[in-house]
Amino acid sequence: MKEKRKLIIDTDCGSDDAVAIAMALNDENHEIIMITTVAGNVPVNQATVNVLTTLEQTGSYYPPVYQGCGEMLVKKWEGSRDTHGYDGMGDLGYHPCFLKKSEGHGVLKMLEALAENEKKTIDIVTLGPLTNLALAIRLQPQTFQRVRRVVVMGSAGLGFGNVSEAAEFNIWQDGEAARIVLEAGIEDLTFVGWDACLDEAMLDEKEIGQIRSNSPLGAFCIDSNRVLMRLNRERFGRDCLDMADPAAMAAALHPQCIEGCQRFYCQIDTNEGPSYGSMLIDRYGFSGKPANAAVCWKLKAKEFKEYLFRTLGVK
Ligand code: BDR
Ligand code: CA
Repeated sequence: MKEKRKLIIDTDCGSDDAVAIAMALNDENHEIIMITTVAGNVPVNQATVNVLTTLEQTGSYYPPVYQGCGEMLVKKWEGSRDTHGYDGMGDLGYHPCFLKKSEGHGVLKMLEALAENEKKTIDIVTLGPLTNLALAIRLQPQTFQRVRRVVVMGSAGLGFGNVSEAAEFNIWQDGEAARIVLEAGIEDLTFVGWDACLDEAMLDEKEIGQIRSNSPLGAFCIDSNRVLMRLNRERFGRDCLDMADPAAMAAALHPQCIEGCQRFYCQIDTNEGPSYGSMLIDRYGFSGKPANAAVCWKLKAKEFKEYLFRTLGVK
């Protein structure tokens, strides 16, 4: 039997993080060795509760959940109530029934796992602000470089921002942290932009209905996204879901679904002002500097959705 790839998920668990986590739990080629939480969509203790709920609702297996940073490095936490609700999960009262978080700080536990496992055997997928990763890099840079691959849901890709004209939420919520991660010299670093989950990659009304009616897990994945759906009716004029974190998870665990992805020299703008938290992508080589990250801006919609349906068990 093929050995499973070891995975750490770092998340600010809102409603689309929950879908991405459920997908990863059901991916036969990966084993989640731990989940770490960070403030972002919701305060960090709520993110932890939401991960525990998601593990119970998915019911596949139960990796340890370690709580990480509750504050950003410099910026104040703002959250995203309008996108995911007060509790991040559509304010429907979801809560865990039997799981509890594990003892230990997320950042230290992540470093411990990287130190204990053979070099280049662990992949990290981040679904929230990069505060935990930045701190891990600052604390133990050598240990962090033992990671095999880091895939970040972050940036606007080659498109528009979702929290300002230029910026995407995860980068914008902690621009300083994103900058530390980008400038850390990580060999294999990919940013999956918000544009990767738009257009044909969005779930349409029919697909939403199919997932919802398929199983209790399907209903959980859709119902918890009801605030996002309401926002999308205003933004896009129809019932649809932009699944940013599931798109990043698919790009990381099932790269066959990637259509547009290229390495560029990138920078994070941390200057105060309208483009704080945006990622500048040197597409035409103005800087003359070597590429420091890959940017994924497009998925093959059909393959992405097939993967999402398969891992959520939707027939
Ligand atoms: C990202 O921000 C959050 O709203 C989502 O969970 C996703 O991680 C999209 O910009
Ligand atoms: Ca998220």
